Amino acid sequence: MLAKKPPMGFNTWNTFGENINEKIILETADKMVELGLRDAGYEYLVIDDCWSEHERDPETGRLVPDHVKFPNGMKYVSDYVHSKGLKFGMYSDVGVYTCAGYPASFDHEFLDAKTFADFGADYLKYDYGYKPASANGEVLYRRMAQALRNCGRDIVLSACQWGCDDPHLWMRSAGADLYRSTGDIEDTWESLRNIIVSQLDKLCCAGPGLWNDTDMLTIGMRGRGNVGEGRKGCTDTEYETEFALWCMIQAPLMIGADLRGIDDVNLALLKNERLIRINQDEDARPPYVFRHGEYSFVLVKLLSDGEMAISMTNGNDGERHMCFFMEDLGLPVSSGLGLDMTDAFTGENVGYFKEIFRAPVPAHGTKCYICTVR
Ligand code: GLA
Repeated sequence: MLAKKPPMGFNTWNTFGENINEKIILETADKMVELGLRDAGYEYLVIDDCWSEHERDPETGRLVPDHVKFPNGMKYVSDYVHSKGLKFGMYSDVGVYTCAGYPASFDHEFLDAKTFADFGADYLKYDYGYKPASANGEVLYRRMAQALRNCGRDIVLSACQWGCDDPHLWMRSAGADLYRSTGDIEDTWESLRNIIVSQLDKLCCAGPGLWNDTDMLTIGMRGRGNVGEGRKGCTDTEYETEFALWCMIQAPLMIGADLRGIDDVNLALLKNERLIRINQDEDARPPYVFRHGEYSFVLVKLLSDGEMAISMTNGNDGERHMCFFMEDLGLPVSSGLGLDMTDAFTGENVGYFKEIFRAPVPAHGTKCYICTVR
């Protein structure tokens, strides 16, 4: 199993879109180390769409890196990334073209897997654009899974199928290690709220070997870059909600902001060790949900050491008092037990509570706690 825990890393798409090149990748690798992100667990550096020439090599039929963007080829980039103690990721698509119109892997799966192995790739994001209408998506993911399994290198298969055709029902069987369950994220509150709410009834499908990918993080983008441009970005409170929820639902944590200019507040959020611990918990139990309204809910996730993580999200436009009853967590009054609660954002102990817990939650905000039962 290649993805025992939700993959963590960086992907170029959210900020750079088609404007990627060798310099950006090398500088990002440097920043992942310098900013302590590698040591916090972010290990994959993934190059998304738009990395290749528009034509395959006429003689070998292979995909070729864009000579201007990657003048020294892809192995050079991958060697640099590996030299920093990171892993290297590439991108292709089940269709005839990638979403941005570059050549993709339809009917070239085995050759392309070999090419990615020769590049030194450890991860392949595999998109769903331009799939021939007559082709079966499930079979195309099975094909690439087989191609990767037989390419001579361990390469994580990150399916990117936008939640079409109920992938949670068959992606694990097909051989993917994670699958995109939603459309593309944008750097806005509405986008991240709608993504998370759309997944609340599918959380039980994520687990070791197949993670439910709610898309790359927008934390720290602040309305800049490919999926941020022209949008107002999110507030710090909204970015906190994004990170806490991606951690609670054990989604892959792929950073999308430009690390060369990320602010300290959002960097600290991305490195929060208590939240990362929730995301990477060994038992990988999905949370259960109490809905408090269309966009407000409580998530409860059992952790491997007997503790519990609990989040309360207020998706409304004004502050709300939210609560949960211990009885609903399996701790009735007759148990004599309550919760000793630590704020997962700050590490501060907030006290010991029995029967009920109540707290004000700001608009678009999330409270998140690590709790010991006693
Ligand atoms: C799709 C994917 C995105 C990104 C782009 C690249 O839209 O969902 O994550 O990879 O393609 O073109």
